[in-house]
Amino acid sequence: MAIDWETGFAPRMQQAKPSAIRELLKLLDEPGIISFAGGIPDPNLFPRTAIAAAAQRILGDPQLAATALQYGPSEGHAPLRRYIAGLMDQHGVACTADNILITSGSQQALDFIGRLFLDPGDTVLVARPTYLGALQAFSAHQPVYEPLPGPGSNRTPDSYGSGDASGTRRAKFGYVIADFQNPTGESLSLAERRDLVANAAALGLPIVEDAAYDQLRYDGAALPSLLALDAARAGGIDKGGVLYCGTFSKTIAPALRIGWIAAPCTVIDRLVLIKQASDLHTSTLDQMVLHEVAATLAPDHLATIRRTYRARRDAMLGALDECFRGAAQWTRPEGGMFIWVTLPEQLDAEDLLRRSLAEARVAFVPGTSFHVDGSGRNTLRLNFSLNPEAVAAEGIRRLGNVLHRALAA
Ligand SMILES: Cc1ncc(COP(=O)(O)O)c(C=O)c1O
Repeated sequence: MAIDWETGFAPRMQQAKPSAIRELLKLLDEPGIISFAGGIPDPNLFPRTAIAAAAQRILGDPQLAATALQYGPSEGHAPLRRYIAGLMDQHGVACTADNILITSGSQQALDFIGRLFLDPGDTVLVARPTYLGALQAFSAHQPVYEPLPGPGSNRTPDSYGSGDASGTRRAKFGYVIADFQNPTGESLSLAERRDLVANAAALGLPIVEDAAYDQLRYDGAALPSLLALDAARAGGIDKGGVLYCGTFSKTIAPALRIGWIAAPCTVIDRLVLIKQASDLHTSTLDQMVLHEVAATLAPDHLATIRRTYRARRDAMLGALDECFRGAAQWTRPEGGMFIWVTLPEQLDAEDLLRRSLAEARVAFVPGTSFHVDGSGRNTLRLNFSLNPEAVAAEGIRRLGNVLHRALAA
């Protein structure tokens, strides 16, 4: 008898449908397309030689190779955990290796956090728009999304911690990208960070801080992480309520898939059980290579990345000033990889993408997919980390022409 796959799959998987946009974005590989769609680092900036040398050294040494190629602890390679605890310390968070779980990229951290906290119908508080990958990770558990506490929220303060008589479910956590958010590029000010941490503490609400872009600052002074503020407030990371998700994907290389969660030991202990069930541990070879590369990186490595992306951001902002003026509004991020564009209300960014691919061979990501409530039809995300300045300027010029034609129609 033929298997009926559709009825065999868990009902929650019905939500996980491939989007029409993904189909359109398959065109990206065609020659001549200028793409602002991806959210990826420039491969020319990967420390290729250092990675090759580290892998060679580790695999050339019988003892190191035996560790690198063997099964390892689910918590992660101990020297790397200690190294990351040291990095967190430098950023104002006193912690030990016991507060660190190594994950296969920070995407896995988000997946595990979803598994740890969420049952169907639980509430997750998110910004609108927010990172699509986080929504995908959490949505597997069929939560309800609500805006973070603030003017847009209609909940009574009590209901965040324990639910309320009307059946409102307890909010399990708030998910926040404080620095150079994906997709908007915007950051929380120091006052907003302090407010958020204080409000969450008052409500007994855990905060999941996604710090994927925090090292990519091009202007202005670095601000403390939510974790640093919360640990200072609570008297240490173990007494606080922030789970910090870090990654080396944006500063070293995403293919090594090394991320981490820094959190109270009680939370880490539970997450380790999920890690065991999921993949036993992150590749020890990758962890050892990453550790060696990160610890010995040329001092100008990060500076080069920042200089390169700053110039590309400036080129894109300059081109937007010239070609989009009067036709749209956009963010001016101090770091990260993205600029967020808001079109006039009557325009639909998915229609604009179709036109843009056909008429100008320029791609971007329409904004609806970053909104849990399907809003944001007149918004779009532009990536600026990948294209050299001249290509970015040309792409924005072509896209500007399409936009002006769409407005005139
Ligand atoms: C905000 C944010 N969080 C997490 C990730 C996941 O990155 P990784 O799994 O490579 O660490 C990304 C990737 O683009 C991201 O933009």
